[in-house]
Amino acid sequence: MSKQITVFAPATVANVGPGFDIFGFALEGIGDTISISETDTGEISITGGKHCESIPVDPKLNVAGVAVQAMFDEAGKTGAGVHLHIEKNIIPGSGLGSSASSASGAVAGVNMLLDLGFSSQELIRFAMIGEGAGGSTPHADNVAPCLLGGFTIVRSYDPLDVIRLPEIPELHVAIVHPQLEVKTSVSKKMLKREIDMKTATLQWGNIAGMVTGLLTKDYELISRSMEDHVAVPVRSMMIPGYDSIIQIAQDSNAIGASISGSGPSIFGFCKTGTEAKMLTGRFGEVFEELDIEYNLYVSKINPKGVSV
Ligand code: HSE
Repeated sequence: MSKQITVFAPATVANVGPGFDIFGFALEGIGDTISISETDTGEISITGGKHCESIPVDPKLNVAGVAVQAMFDEAGKTGAGVHLHIEKNIIPGSGLGSSASSASGAVAGVNMLLDLGFSSQELIRFAMIGEGAGGSTPHADNVAPCLLGGFTIVRSYDPLDVIRLPEIPELHVAIVHPQLEVKTSVSKKMLKREIDMKTATLQWGNIAGMVTGLLTKDYELISRSMEDHVAVPVRSMMIPGYDSIIQIAQDSNAIGASISGSGPSIFGFCKTGTEAKMLTGRFGEVFEELDIEYNLYVSKINPKGVSV
């Protein structure tokens, strides 16, 4: 009988305020479920279920297929083939790391199934190659937390060096996903190629503040450090209701709020689950008024990455 495995790959929030392309964390309960079976075809084949209508099943075009192929190329594997069946419970283009979940779940699952022995850092590299197949510049701030769980920092891309922060079980996350599709590839191209010294200084001050705040659980410091001067000023213009959401987060005494990844989802950090639940309700009211359909999620930072 052929070997099989089913993995869950969590959705993720990337950028997290000032950490454009470097900060990310994993979410609980939402993500991709990928069933993987070994085949004797010597090839990768893919089928898609829920929310996969817009996703190519050609393994050369599918982020999971490209990621697994990169892993096979490095393993020098010729014999085995795999079939991947992907089910999503987040819509692609939500800003919640949908392609990262597919790419990460696939490489982690195949690595386990075929006992290939790649390390987590190597899997991040393969998943990043896969995600790049979706048309965006390769970035690891979604795939890293998806694979490792928790809150991660991409300290360097070349060579790849990912740090995982200690657990922060106290933080709760309120998320609203207004159903407008924003493609990361498009949203990345809108950003300026260069930033001036004054902006850079503001940005790295906030980065240092965020990391210190997360390590010492200083919510006031996290709150003061969440402003992004690089991507959010441009991307927020594409999200109707963004300013109202940020105002609501401030009025509700949330720690802070910002765009999740390249948007359109927006997340807020809260001190308790009750506050996070209340905040999502208020976020929802903004999109009710704008007559835009939305989904709400409440989560903690998921300490677990891809799991069986
Ligand atoms: N860091 C990436 C970006 C995340 O902002 O384009 C995309 O989810």
